[in-house]
Amino acid sequence: LQISVIGVPIDFGQMRRGVDMGPSAIRYAGAIERLEAIGHTVKDEGDIYVSNAAQLEVHPKLRNLGAVVEACTQLSNRVKETVEQKKFPLILGGDHSIAIGTLAGLAHHYKNLGVIWYDAHADMNTAETSPSGNIHGMPLAVAMGMGHEKLTNIGGSGAKIKPENLVIIGARSVDEGEKALIKEKGIKVYSMHEIDRLGMTAVMKDALEYLASRNVDGVHLSLDLDGLDPLHTPGVGTPVPGGITYRESHLAMEMLQESGVLTSAEFVEVNPVLDTKNSTANVAVELMGSLLGESLV
Ligand code: ARG
Ligand code: MN
Ligand code: MN
Ligand code: MN
Repeated sequence: LQISVIGVPIDFGQMRRGVDMGPSAIRYAGAIERLEAIGHTVKDEGDIYVSNAAQLEVHPKLRNLGAVVEACTQLSNRVKETVEQKKFPLILGGDHSIAIGTLAGLAHHYKNLGVIWYDAHADMNTAETSPSGNIHGMPLAVAMGMGHEKLTNIGGSGAKIKPENLVIIGARSVDEGEKALIKEKGIKVYSMHEIDRLGMTAVMKDALEYLASRNVDGVHLSLDLDGLDPLHTPGVGTPVPGGITYRESHLAMEMLQESGVLTSAEFVEVNPVLDTKNSTANVAVELMGSLLGESLV
């Protein structure tokens, strides 16, 4: 593959400062070298510019709205260009609000995109349902066309993905408004219950078959490191116990690689300030290896 790595050093989508250092931490953990060793041609495109100045805009239900819109608009353009150049976009966060930009950029090209959302959370709140006002809890709602206009208009108005092309894996902290939306739209969710009950092998097989049955024209993986158990990835802002294990996660990545359907990926929520010796960025890089074709033997 020709891989373009794009960093998005933003921490304004939530309350814990430091996740803006995620792209550096992931590069420091050897992401570029790791992917090159597999045989890919990797270009580090650097980071998108995000002003680190404190945000003055006061919008308690949409914190730092302006800064998030600015970063996601740039990211949307960069992702669009990357796909036009026939390169594989690999985005490094930053908090999960950046997925608004990623999905908007991908939507220019993929009209029936499949999305695998690997996360403890459903990230489909709007300002009305959000318990926190943090935009990193909203990207899927925005991508489905719901929420503040300034967010839904990034990269063009309207929905960027279809609810029936979305698969959530690892959910275990879902808000009431999100639960209602999941029911209403019939969204496919493999919560920790299904992972425990069926095992990751069956969950991934089912998820991939489901997306294939939807005739998707591409598959984007959005991997929030808090999808894993905090034992393995402590450096995240919103850890939830009882998560996906390290080994299940490698298996999931390997099965996704094997399927051959993946067209883009992002790794988000790595916060080195909260981490133990960069272990969360290290796990992110190891998972990237499995996702992009590293073999064990
Ligand atoms: N559901 C909670 C909220 O809306 C937590 C969201 C966490 N999202 C994340 N990307 N880590 O605030
Ligand atoms: Mn900052
Ligand atoms: Mn999460
Ligand atoms: Mn998330």
